[in-house]
This record gives sequence, C-alpha cells and structure tokens, in this order.
Amino acid sequence: MSRPDRSHLHREGLIDPPGTPQAEHDGTGRVRLHFLPLARDVRVPPGVTLFDAASWNGIAIDSTCGGHGTCKKCKVQVTSGSIPVSRLDVRCFTPGELSAGWRLACLAAAVSDVSVDVPPLSTRPKAATVGVGRQVILRPAIQKRYVELAEPTLSDQRPDLDRVLDALDDLELRADLHVLRRLPGVLRAADFKVTAVVVDDVLIDVEAGDTTGRRFGLAYDLGTTTVVATLLDTSTGTPAAVASMLNKQQPFGADVITRISAAMLDPATLPRLQAAAQDTLATLAAEVCAEAGVDPREVYEVALAGNATMTALVLGIEPEPLGVAPFVQSTASWPRSLRASDLGVQVHPAAPAMVFPALGAYVGGDIVAGMLASGMDRDKRIRLFIDVGTNCELVLSDGDRIVATAAPAGPAFEGGAIRCGMRAADGAIEVVTLTDDDVKLQVIGDVAPVGLCGSGLVDAVSELIRVGLLDGSGRLVTAEDAKEIAPGLAERFHTVQGERVFVLAWNGAEAAESVYLSQRDVRELQFAKAAIATGWSLLLVELGVEPSDVQQVLLAGSFGSYLSPASAVRIGLVPKLPVLRIVSAGNVAGEGAKMALLSMQERAGAATLLREVRYVELSDRPEFNDRFVDQLAFPV
Ligand code: FES
Repeated sequence: MSRPDRSHLHREGLIDPPGTPQAEHDGTGRVRLHFLPLARDVRVPPGVTLFDAASWNGIAIDSTCGGHGTCKKCKVQVTSGSIPVSRLDVRCFTPGELSAGWRLACLAAAVSDVSVDVPPLSTRPKAATVGVGRQVILRPAIQKRYVELAEPTLSDQRPDLDRVLDALDDLELRADLHVLRRLPGVLRAADFKVTAVVVDDVLIDVEAGDTTGRRFGLAYDLGTTTVVATLLDTSTGTPAAVASMLNKQQPFGADVITRISAAMLDPATLPRLQAAAQDTLATLAAEVCAEAGVDPREVYEVALAGNATMTALVLGIEPEPLGVAPFVQSTASWPRSLRASDLGVQVHPAAPAMVFPALGAYVGGDIVAGMLASGMDRDKRIRLFIDVGTNCELVLSDGDRIVATAAPAGPAFEGGAIRCGMRAADGAIEVVTLTDDDVKLQVIGDVAPVGLCGSGLVDAVSELIRVGLLDGSGRLVTAEDAKEIAPGLAERFHTVQGERVFVLAWNGAEAAESVYLSQRDVRELQFAKAAIATGWSLLLVELGVEPSDVQQVLLAGSFGSYLSPASAVRIGLVPKLPVLRIVSAGNVAGEGAKMALLSMQERAGAATLLREVRYVELSDRPEFNDRFVDQLAFPV
C-alpha cells in the first residue's frame, strides 16, 4: 500500500514535521471548547482530548473503540481555532476535509480555544465509552422484550404471569406485586401485545405495545458539595441529559464532619439531612427527564456513587460511627432490594437502585466508582489516583496491587478558610499567570473577579513560587525584596489587617477591598497539600516504588480535574513528574455510576475491587508526623 502524500499538509501548515510531538502543552491555563450544535461551552485543562471533554459533559460522539483510535468513527469538525492533524487523521480524511478542520476527536488534544461541530450519531453502538478511556460492552441490567402472546381460551387458562414468563423462558425471572397489579389490565388493553421490562432478574413491568426503543437509567454522583445526574439511554450508552446542582444539605455544613456532628447533636437533624439529599436527587431527576423529553416512568434503574457519609444520610442511616474512631460503616455493600424510591427519586415505581459499595468510612462508593471508571485494576502501569477535596482520597496501583487511603486536606481547595476564597462559580479566579509586570487572570463566567477558587489558589501560589516572590518555606517576600525580584509586581504587595498580601485583582485603590492572596492563605494551602503529599508518599512506600516511577497521575473529582497540572507539580501536590503524565480524569464517580448502568460486568467489577484494594490507615503510622512536616515546604 502506498503511503499517503502528506507534503501539501506540511506546506499548508496543517501538520507538523515528522518527529514533532503532537499537542505538547505546558500544563497551565484552561482551554475553552465550544461544542456545536448544542452550543455548549466547556473549559478544560490543556491536553484533554475533544472526545474526553465531550464525554465528561454529556455530549455524545460516535465511537465503537472507546477512544483508542481504531474505529475512526469519532469524526468532528473544528470550525474555529486549530488542532494539529494526527497520524491517523491523514488516513481517515481527504486533504480537503483536513483543511476544513475534520479530525478524529479521540486523538485531538485541545491546547487552545476551539469550536467543534459534532455530527449526530450514525451507529447504534454495541459499546459505549465512559470513564477514563474505558469502553464497555453494552450489557445493561435493563432489558426490554416485545412479545405477542396468545390470548387465553378455555383450553389455555394459564395465569397472566405464566403467559408472559413462558414467552421469556430464556430468562429466569421473578415478578413483584407491582407488575402483578398491572398485568391483567395492560395485557387486555393491548391485545396481549406488550413489552416486558426486565431489570436484572426481575420483571418490573409490562407496557402496552412495543416500547423497546425507550429504556433509560439515571446515574448520580452524590457529592458533599455538588450532585450530578446523568440520564442515560441504556440502549445506546449515550447520555440524554446531564444536570448538576449544589447538595441541598449545604446549610447543615460544608463538609461531612459538620453534617455528622449536626446529626449527632440533634436527633431531628438526620431526617432533615435525608430529606435535603433526597430532594436534591429528585429535583435533578425531574430536570434531566424534562430536558430530554423522557417520561420519568421510562427510567427503570438508578445507580448512585457517593462517599460513605452521603450514602448513609440519603438512606436515613445514623452516621455517627462514620465520624468517630474507629470509623465504621453500617455496611460495605448495599442490598439488591434497594429501590429508587428509597433514595427519594420518583422514576418508575419499581425501579431498583444500585448503590456503590464502599471500602471504608473515608474511601467511599464514589472512590470505588472512580477506580472502576479509571480502570485502576486493569492497567499494568504504576498509576496514582487523587480525588482532591476536603477529604482527599488516594489510590496507588502498580499493576498487581492496589492500595488506598484518605487524607484530611481541609476546606482550602473548595475556597474555604481562604480570605478571598469562594467556590468555583461565576466570578471565581480559576487561572493565574504572572508576567514581569502584570497578573493575567481567567475568571469563571468571564465576569469581574470576586474571589479565588481552589484551582486559582493553587495557580497563584505556584506562580509566586515560580517568579521567586514566595519562598520554599511558604513565606511571601517583603515589599522591599519584591522591588528587587519583580519590580513590575512589587506594588501588589500590601498589608491587610497586619498580614502580608499579594493583590491579584484590584477593586478600587484599596488592597483590603480587592481580591488578594494572604500569607495565611498560603499556609492553609501548605497544610492541605502536605496532607495529600504525605498520603501518596506513604502509599509509594507501601508498594516500594519511587515517586519518579509513577507513570500516570489522575487528578479526579470536581476540583481535581480543574487543577493545572503544572501548578500541581510546582507546589508539590503531586510527585515531581513531567506534566504530560498528570492527567485530568473528570468526574470519575459519575462515570463509574454510568458504567454500572451500562454493564452488568462492570458492576460486578466494583464488587471485585472491594476485595482487591487494601486500605491503608495513615493516622496510626509512626512516621506520619515527620513526613507531614517534610511535605509542608514547596519544592523550589
Ligand atoms: S477512533 Fe474510535 S473513538 Fe476515535
């Protein structure tokens, strides 16, 4: 076979010369992706592929290979901005198509802002891409079968249920009262032409006529701060709608410990916490169903991944043992008899609920789901998974063994305990870049900055270290020293309430009225990152590997995924590795929940993980304190 002539592509600047690494980036900043025709804007760290960014945000792109560059179905058109032509693009597209911006989405790493046109799905997939480059063969628990039954006669007086079950004799099914109540009416109204709705081994309903094309499931990531719901078409594996909102338990406290304490102090609080969580799930269910034009009764199963405390609270289980030593959960695995209604979710009345099992009080179902989504048990590489948050969960795998732990990082990453801190909402500074004489900011919502969210905090500290305005011990230099080191930035050093600060965004002439980073904020971040670094350094010791051996670091969760890899390395939050080894993993808990809905096999994998992963308790380690103190410094 002759090699394609690529010379014109070089001439037109579409393709880099041979040997040029594709889509290099320095791991800083954010790129903005505008997906058409949905007109959805997404911001991701550089280096994330169009395919991953779309899939994390519920935008379906055709694929049967799971983003591995073999099916050539993930064709998209870059309509503004540019993405270099990959090796495979040259084989898939004509020169005219390449010039018009056509690319394979799974190989197209975005390193600058682009608009992307996503064609409608052309295939009915047998597999779906979810999680971190994971592909699952579609074997959902939800099945539908259309059957045309013989009508009863005096010589065939089989009961209605037997009539249905006989037509489904390749399945061993149970039926519950709900379906028995509906059977006589539906069968006769539909002239015995019905669709059986089966979830796992239970016949949950019969529906008049052929409804086999409509089978939906609902996947939840029940976070302490944010709750995300994805409505999935389980026949294609594609998301029909995604919605998120703050957990309505927020008024009871920002983190799990305050919510547990609230429940311990007043017995009336537990039902209120449960109602708030259930109300959150119900609101999101209504929202995604309305957006996708799906009748809630067409949602036949729910999967939920949450930390141990959120899971206990939404089910109305006393959380106190989770919050006090020796930190014990009521159960690791949840009964199969749970229903969506037990979670307060009003979908099909007999829809079962699959709730992710947890490894321990502080490595919950969300992390088990995350491990499943990132394939921690399937990869031979040494990989470190970090879900950054108030409670930070860490998992290390060397291809054979998997160890996990939790590190209490405190609220700094969520903008808590930070003078100008805020959550990642409109007005939050999320990216900070220092030049010789200026501070460049990216602000969520492109509005005037009003505060600093976690990723902006990490960036600000990282940049101040880079230019020498913050030393390794975490001390901001004096205004006098700043004049020597970076004269163009020195005027931003001020004192607010006796504390040294660096002004990031002026609001009038007063530093105190502006958005700034204070010396104490830096200390808060030092404690948070030291807790996390102590966690992974002890896990590395546990498996006998060096930090430089780690081949991939996955930054997960609603905060971790938005961290700048370069800044995470510079402040020592992750091992000192090339930035290309630090990968944003997206909302892996939600991805794990989707996988459970799409594949019975993957669901079984979650139970296997519970047996394979060894939990390492850090707090009783004699070397914990020494390591923690060692990790407080920034690696300058
Ligand atoms: S080639 Fe299969 S998803 Fe890109």
